[in-house]
Amino acid sequence: MQITASSKRNILITSALPYASGSLHLGHFVEHSQSDIWARLLRARGHEVKFLCADDAHGTPIMLNAEKQGMTPEAMVDAIREEHWRDLQAFGISYDHYHSTHSPENQALVSEIYLKLKAAGHIESKVVEQYFDPEKSMFLPDRFVKGTCPKCGTEDQYSDGCESCGSTYDSTEIINPISVVSGATPVMKESKHLFVNLKNFEPMLKTWVDSGSLQEEVSNKLAEWFEAGLQSWDISRDAPYFGFQIPEEEGKYFYVWMDAPVGYLACLKYVCEQNGEEFAPWIDPNTEHEMYHFIGKDILYFHSLFWPAMLQGANMKLPNAVYVHGFLTVNGTKMSKSRGTFIKASTYLEHLNPDYLRYYYAAKLSDGLVDIDLNMEDFRQRVNSDLVGKVVNIASRCAGFIKKKFNSTLSTELHNTELYAEFLSHSEEIAQLFEARKYNAAIRQIMALADKANQYIADMAPWVAIKDENKQEEVHQVCSTGINLFRVLMSWLAPVIPFTASKAETFLNVELNDWYAINEPLLSHKINQFKPLISRIEAETLDKIIEQSKQDLEATTSTKKTESNGQLEADPISEEIDFDAFAKVDLRVVKIIDAQHVEKANKLLQLTLDLGGVTKKVFAGIKSAYKPEDLIGKHTVMVANLAPRKMRFGVSEGMVLAAGPGGDDLYILEPHDGAQPGMRVK
Ligand code: MSP
Ligand code: ZN
Repeated sequence: MQITASSKRNILITSALPYASGSLHLGHFVEHSQSDIWARLLRARGHEVKFLCADDAHGTPIMLNAEKQGMTPEAMVDAIREEHWRDLQAFGISYDHYHSTHSPENQALVSEIYLKLKAAGHIESKVVEQYFDPEKSMFLPDRFVKGTCPKCGTEDQYSDGCESCGSTYDSTEIINPISVVSGATPVMKESKHLFVNLKNFEPMLKTWVDSGSLQEEVSNKLAEWFEAGLQSWDISRDAPYFGFQIPEEEGKYFYVWMDAPVGYLACLKYVCEQNGEEFAPWIDPNTEHEMYHFIGKDILYFHSLFWPAMLQGANMKLPNAVYVHGFLTVNGTKMSKSRGTFIKASTYLEHLNPDYLRYYYAAKLSDGLVDIDLNMEDFRQRVNSDLVGKVVNIASRCAGFIKKKFNSTLSTELHNTELYAEFLSHSEEIAQLFEARKYNAAIRQIMALADKANQYIADMAPWVAIKDENKQEEVHQVCSTGINLFRVLMSWLAPVIPFTASKAETFLNVELNDWYAINEPLLSHKINQFKPLISRIEAETLDKIIEQSKQDLEATTSTKKTESNGQLEADPISEEIDFDAFAKVDLRVVKIIDAQHVEKANKLLQLTLDLGGVTKKVFAGIKSAYKPEDLIGKHTVMVANLAPRKMRFGVSEGMVLAAGPGGDDLYILEPHDGAQPGMRVK
């Protein structure tokens, strides 16, 4: 069935807006690949697609990050947006435009939506007590306050939970709180905050959930949230804050998560203005225009509760669906900087064709929330055997004969029209699978047909037949059939591997951007010289990527995570101390003579240390980086005169020195050879 004017849809597709801090990594590209394949498919099917994204520019971490780099936040987010856009284009992500939430369109739109919510009585204000840094004169989000865990006594824990014993607590319970920003002791201070009353939207949210357009896991999650009761949402932040001022308020700013989703529409508005098109139909609840958001499972709450509530409160169209994907793991575990599996997009691009990764993700992506694993060896084999070994192989087996023997021109008839018809009979189903985001199933079908095409060529063995004078026309038709089957496969794969598709277009001398063009086979058609479209992935290349990613880590060792979603920010230098204070610290070289697991502790090992005759027992939060047996015999450095501290698991008689990128991986400092247990470190 061809798309006719009446079945042409207007479709807005977005990906979540990456934070304008830090580089894009392969985790981000699960989403950009998923949404890009969808956008390219729907374009090829003849629809009017607006495929948009932007950088999410606001918030405290970004503000402080810029300050640390001696830049204005505006300059920093501009620079990062450029870097992101460059990586996205290099990956073939076909956004019609890549905007920023720090834009006049967005400010106008978020203010408009807010004022509509306010006029409709959905905004309420409450006084909230919060940590305040008296030196920096700023309120501190939970992640910007650290202190001693009230449950186990481990120092240097975030105010919302302890990494050592795993307990969570109210930020006011933390002992000796310290501002991460300045090192000052924060005080509690009151301030007025503005809230969206989410309860007002509960009936409409329930209807939206019941409309059946959400994934089952998503509906279940929402049911849990309804069950627990919807909380009002705090949408204001006090100055200093990098964001937009709230209209009709003094010194209040929109919380970043208020203006971020509005950024989807602000970007669209900008594009419509640029193109001289109407924006209004896209947000009018009475039009047939469609809106879809691709997001990761970590930001579901914002997109399935807050965002629809904001839209409804402002009398705007609700999203047709929010499509949620799982997280990327590499070699079976969370991406890790120290293992070199936290791979930046730019690092990957230095070594490999983006189509490889796009293909691998597609081959694994389903319509569910399950995590997807990038197993390096599986990745290599899969790409080599499917793309190089199966698909491209069809063309390379046939192209030579067409060029040498038949003047680069395909035959006037196919040798096997039934086979061609059989391929075509799968076209609608494959399109449906892609549209239903069952990319893995679509790829399975395409590869099964690629096997069939290869089998056909093997059976016909044109390389044998060509030696027979009477079979010249047969060879011509067989190879032309092969090339036509290759065209069909490439047309289906074009949304997934656009760079390879573009090379195939040159070879085939025909465009591959129309899903229905394959209905007519290429006959008596001139093709161009075949050049290898892609090469195999070598194991060494993957090793290089891992190695380089480890080095990226070294370049950023002075940065650590301050937000659970991977925003990086420089660890500030602590408050100055005088020399006497330093001289009091007795640092000693020690030898680890025993290391044991500590029952029930997630991060701790108990170490027995030899200080040259004296032994001490200490707890160290280094479990995720070491097996205990590997530590025995190593030398390190300890603070020997630290007063013994009672911890949940026993008494710790000092501390060993360790360093890490933040998060879980901490590595002990090892002195140079020659340093013996008991020696003083000066
Ligand atoms: N700025 C917010 C989104 C605002 S949308 C109005 C944000 N940014 S993010 O940079 O942290 O993440 C952007 C998207 O990338 C999210 O959908 C997130 O789920 C996704 N991913 C980030 N790391 C990921 C993996 N490791 N794996 C898969 N997707 C991941 O959240
Ligand atoms: Zn604790």
